[in-house]
Amino acid sequence: MTKKQRKIIRAVLELGFFCLLLSACAAKTVLDDLDRFAGSDIGAYGQAGMTAAQQAAALLPKKQIRVGFVQVGHESDWRIAATKSGKQAFSEENGYDLHFVDADNDPKVQVEAVRRFIKERMDYIVIDPILTTGWTAVLKEAYHAKIPVILLDRTIDCKDQYYAAWFGSDFVREGEWAGEWLQNYLKKQGRDQETIHIVTINGTQGASAQIGRTQGFAQYVEKNANWKLLAQECGDFTESGGKAVMERYLQTYERIDVVVCQNDNEAFGACAALDEAGVAYGVDAENDGGVILISFDATRAGLEAVLDGKIHADFECNPLSPPYAAEAIRRLEAGEVLTEKDYYLPEDCFTADEEPMTLMIDFTPKQMVTVTKELLEDREY
Ligand code: AHR
Repeated sequence: MTKKQRKIIRAVLELGFFCLLLSACAAKTVLDDLDRFAGSDIGAYGQAGMTAAQQAAALLPKKQIRVGFVQVGHESDWRIAATKSGKQAFSEENGYDLHFVDADNDPKVQVEAVRRFIKERMDYIVIDPILTTGWTAVLKEAYHAKIPVILLDRTIDCKDQYYAAWFGSDFVREGEWAGEWLQNYLKKQGRDQETIHIVTINGTQGASAQIGRTQGFAQYVEKNANWKLLAQECGDFTESGGKAVMERYLQTYERIDVVVCQNDNEAFGACAALDEAGVAYGVDAENDGGVILISFDATRAGLEAVLDGKIHADFECNPLSPPYAAEAIRRLEAGEVLTEKDYYLPEDCFTADEEPMTLMIDFTPKQMVTVTKELLEDREY
């Protein structure tokens, strides 16, 4: 190597190092955002030093990163927002060659898609799993093929060595927030001794979102002797499913005080069934024995229903996990190490109450947020 060539290489490396220093000082990433919410269960993202070769490689033009992303389906407004976020995060402009599969809520299609991604030698596989079960064999295959798997939104029952990271929601905590809210609300209304007839419209049976929300809320059913849980049927996270289940409930039960819908679309379906049956619900109807409606997701349409007084309280499930996954991939590509496996996304609890309550769980306060027109205008989904 000539003296001149050595000089050029040193200059390139110095420039690379300087750029890295600059970006370390100035760049703010989605993962830094996530770290702001660090609690005992939210990990920090580890930084490993880059070798000179990695720094030099970082300066070369990038190849497109091939990502296979298998989505649950298109069952809800939430899901549409999550897919849009995924397509943006893994866009061509961002340096990705995205292979997207909509599994239409069929677990078999998801596993087949992952097998195809392995065969096609994707650089990364991103999965939003429909069910918690059925993943070990195919994830082992991806592991042995050395293709990192990133999970979004829902969790799976599988050894964590088979995936690189998960970005999603604490579904149990969401269910607990709903229970805590209802307990406090009924107390405030002087109804804490009255028998409260509750029905739930559950999400897809066996999805971690359904399992977690059910478990979280169940703790409050156990704690409140006056709560009578009449039924828990599956509405599959869809509007038509929510409507059909609500229609059955209205035919079966003479009195229903509270309907817990495990997502906004089921709540819209429940509203349609209540409207058709001429049963009053919502904040204004409550003093006349109207039904109290609780929902999860906090999509724009869900929060509009909160503002209209149709839904009493809506517990957010954040669909914007793909940018976190893209950032994780960027860091893995740069040779950095992810020191944590599981990352919880920031989420809020919404009400139309102008004096929103503070929910206290495990000595951790959660201030609810009042829905306003301005809040809706600024909302991303
Ligand atoms: O897994 C997240 C859940 O799935 C959301 O609550 C729901 O809307 C979606 O379909």
